[in-house]
Amino acid sequence: MWKLGSLNVDGKAVLGPMSGFTSSGYRDFMKPFGVALSYTVMTSDLGIIHNHEKTNEYVHFGDNHPTGVQLYGSDPETISKAATIAMELNPDIDFFDVNMGCPVPKIIRTNSGSALMRDPKRCGNIIRAIKSKVDVPVSAKIRLGWSLNEMNFRDVIDELQSADVDAICVHPRTRSEAYSGSPHYDLIEGLQDEMSVPLIVSGNIYLLEDAISAMRTSRATAVMVARGGVGNPYLVTQIDRYFRTGERLPNPKISQQVDWCLELADFMIKEKGYEEAMRKFRIYAPKFIAGCHKCRSYRYDLAVKSKDMESLKEILYDIRDKMGDMRINTYGRIDQDEPPHSS
Ligand SMILES: Cc1cc2nc3c(=O)[nH]c(=O)nc-3n(C[C@H](O)[C@H](O)[C@H](O)COP(=O)(O)O)c2cc1C
Repeated sequence: MWKLGSLNVDGKAVLGPMSGFTSSGYRDFMKPFGVALSYTVMTSDLGIIHNHEKTNEYVHFGDNHPTGVQLYGSDPETISKAATIAMELNPDIDFFDVNMGCPVPKIIRTNSGSALMRDPKRCGNIIRAIKSKVDVPVSAKIRLGWSLNEMNFRDVIDELQSADVDAICVHPRTRSEAYSGSPHYDLIEGLQDEMSVPLIVSGNIYLLEDAISAMRTSRATAVMVARGGVGNPYLVTQIDRYFRTGERLPNPKISQQVDWCLELADFMIKEKGYEEAMRKFRIYAPKFIAGCHKCRSYRYDLAVKSKDMESLKEILYDIRDKMGDMRINTYGRIDQDEPPHSS
């Protein structure tokens, strides 16, 4: 158990926000695998203030607790106003997180996301403003800096802590690196020991070993599962279990992956309606067999041919019949050299 401000968090595996992926249906599906803390995807402060339908939808998340609403913006005044409105719309919000790491040009142009890191004082002022308006904890999600030549994460952390932030998530890449290459865990070695609030680390967590290594190097309080969890919900269970008991659970069988894939489809249909869920599902479904040796042609079929529940089930049941007892071997990383499989 650890504390995010006044909030008790039970577990080390945190579910990272990913726009376009981690909707409330996805988060509800992931929760029982051992998610200790969830976030909504990033939500525009101005969207909340101007009552945009879509952004409004983001502040509601049913009974999946603890969940934080992640805000983005650049002005302490508007972002804190948005937090106040969000709290009125949903008094059950457990905490707010401020996105200070998004590298997408559309966001940067508004001086939000990782553009904020160029102005550490503003980062602190945003946290201060939100904390003065709401009673729930406030965290921030940052990167190492704007570029390899401008790595000022320590300055930003100092400002955030002096503003009484309740936790900080660090994704040890720079804005210019976006999501590629290896995160620089070496640059945040022992960082938690230098901090007065909990550190959450994020970046290339695809395997239990990645989580162990990231936690060991940074000495962080918790670890965030993002891309590596899409199609691999059991990664969260492996991380959760390891940090509770030291046990290394084996990877799941393909038959389990098939069941979970269909379970997620049900969650998505409930959330988004049949048509939209099926359209989106062509991205999710192949990831459930990404670590399956000789599954390349099945992945193709799931991405291209699964147009409805019938065709999705047909492909998945075929996979289960042929290799259901095999265990997923390399989570999330598709072997480029794998020969196409046809059977
Ligand atoms: C498609 C996509 C969307 C993302 N959206 C958000 C977001 O809305 N808010 C945020 O703080 N981070 C976002 N992230 C960053 C992730 O939360 C995570 O920090 C990052 O992907 C590094 O972790 P990973 O390498 O394990 O995926 C996004 C990442 C991806 C790939």
